[in-house]
Amino acid sequence: MPIRLSILGSTGSIGRSALEVVRHYPGLFEVVALGAFANTDLLARQIAEFRPAHVAVVDEAAARRLEGTGVGARLWRGPRGLEDMAAVDVDVALCAVVGAAGLKPVLRAIESGHRVALANKEPLVIAGSLIMDTARRAGVKVLPVDSEHSAIFQCIEGHPRDDVHCIHLTASGGPFYGKPSAARRDVSPEEAANHPTWDMGRKISVDSATLMNKGLEVIEAMWLFGMPLDRIRVVIHPQSIIHSLVEFTDGSILAQMGPTDMRFPILFALTWPERVREPMGRLDLTRIEKLTFAEPDFSEFPCLRLALESARRGGTAPAVLNAANEVAVQAFCQRRIPFLEIPRLVESVLAGAELETTVSLESVLASDAAARARAERYIADRF
Ligand SMILES: NC(=O)c1ccc[n+]([C@@H]2O[C@H](COP(=O)([O-])OP(=O)(O)OC[C@H]3O[C@@H](n4cnc5c(N)ncnc54)[C@H](OP(=O)(O)O)[C@@H]3O)[C@@H](O)[C@H]2O)c1
Repeated sequence: MPIRLSILGSTGSIGRSALEVVRHYPGLFEVVALGAFANTDLLARQIAEFRPAHVAVVDEAAARRLEGTGVGARLWRGPRGLEDMAAVDVDVALCAVVGAAGLKPVLRAIESGHRVALANKEPLVIAGSLIMDTARRAGVKVLPVDSEHSAIFQCIEGHPRDDVHCIHLTASGGPFYGKPSAARRDVSPEEAANHPTWDMGRKISVDSATLMNKGLEVIEAMWLFGMPLDRIRVVIHPQSIIHSLVEFTDGSILAQMGPTDMRFPILFALTWPERVREPMGRLDLTRIEKLTFAEPDFSEFPCLRLALESARRGGTAPAVLNAANEVAVQAFCQRRIPFLEIPRLVESVLAGAELETTVSLESVLASDAAARARAERYIADRF
C-alpha cells in the first residue's frame, strides 16, 4: 500500500523537494492533497503530474485563477480552506508552509490524527506547548523535517531522556559567518539568501544569515525533544556534514551525518519507522577533508541571543520574537530596511511587548498580531 501524503506548501523549497522524493520512488507514495499560497502556475503543473484529489489555494484571486483552468480536484480556498484540507485522511501530512501562517493547519492535521512531518518550524516556536499537548492527546507522532532535528531524532530515539547530557545543534553559520560586521552593512537580499551549503526558501535563508534560524531551531528542539534550554548547545560546523549530535551522561556522543540535501530528512520523516532500501545518493566519507566545530559569536549575531532570551522568558515571548522577525525579514527582502536593522527591530518590538505567561491559541495569535503592528510602526517611523 502506498503511503498517502498531503503536502501543505507544495510549491515551496521543501514542498518541491518532497515531490522529488515522491518522483524518485514510484509506487511508494500517493499524493492525496497539495496546498499553496498563490503560485498557481507551479501548482497546476504539480496537479497535472501527481493527480491529487484535494488542492488548497490560500490567496482568493489565485484560487479563482486555478478554478478557471479546471482543476480536476476538490478546491479548498483561503486560509480556512488550507486548514480544512489539513484534515483530509492521509497517512502523513507534510507541513511545509513558511511562517506562523502554518499554525492552524498544523494543529488541524494533528487533531485529525495524522502523523505530521513538520518542516514549518515557526508554529512550534510560537506555540510549542499547545502543539505537543495536542499531539499527545491525539496520539500523533510529530516527526521533524529540519535536518538538525531529524539528526537528533535519529540519535535520541530509544534512549531515556535522563541518559541525555545535552544536544549539540549544528549551524553552518550562513554566508556571513566569520566576516566583519562592516561586510554585512550593505548586503542585498540576494547576497543574504545565498547560503553556502543549503538551497532553501527566501525566509529561512535570510534567517540563516542572521542566525535567527538557529535560535528558532533551539526552541523547536526544546519542544520536540522535551529538553530544557540549558541542555541545548549551538555549535558552528561550516561543512554541514554532521547534522547534529546527542551527548549522553557517560560522555559518549552520537552524531548523524548525511548528504547536504533536504530530500534525505524529508524521506526519513515520510517513511519512518521504515527505511528505504535504495538511497538517492550516498555520502563519500573519503571526500570529506575536515569537520570543524566552533562556539557561536553572540555579539556579531544578536538574533541568536534574542531567540535564546525569548526561549528563557517563555509564554508569548517567542511568538513576539517570531512575528517581529517575519515582518523584519519581509521588509529586508523588499529593500525597505537594511540587513543589520533586522535584530534592532526584533529587539525593539520585544522590549515594548506586553507578554503573557499562558500559551493558548488566542494568546499566541493576539501577541503575533500586536507584534506585527508594532514592527510595521517601527519601520514606518524610521524608514
Ligand atoms: N527550505 C529548506 O531547506 C528548509 C529546511 C528546514 C526547514 N524549513 C522550514 O520549512 C518551512 C518552509 O520553508 P521553505 O524554504 O520551503 O519556504 P518557501 O520556499 O518560501 O515555501 C513556502 C510555502 O508555503 C506557502 N505559503 C507562503 N505563505 C503562505 C501562507 N500565508 N499560507 C499558506 N501557505 C503559504 C508557499 O506558497 P506559494 O509558493 O504559493 O507562495 C510555499 O508553498 C519553513 O518554516 C522553514 O523554516 C525549510
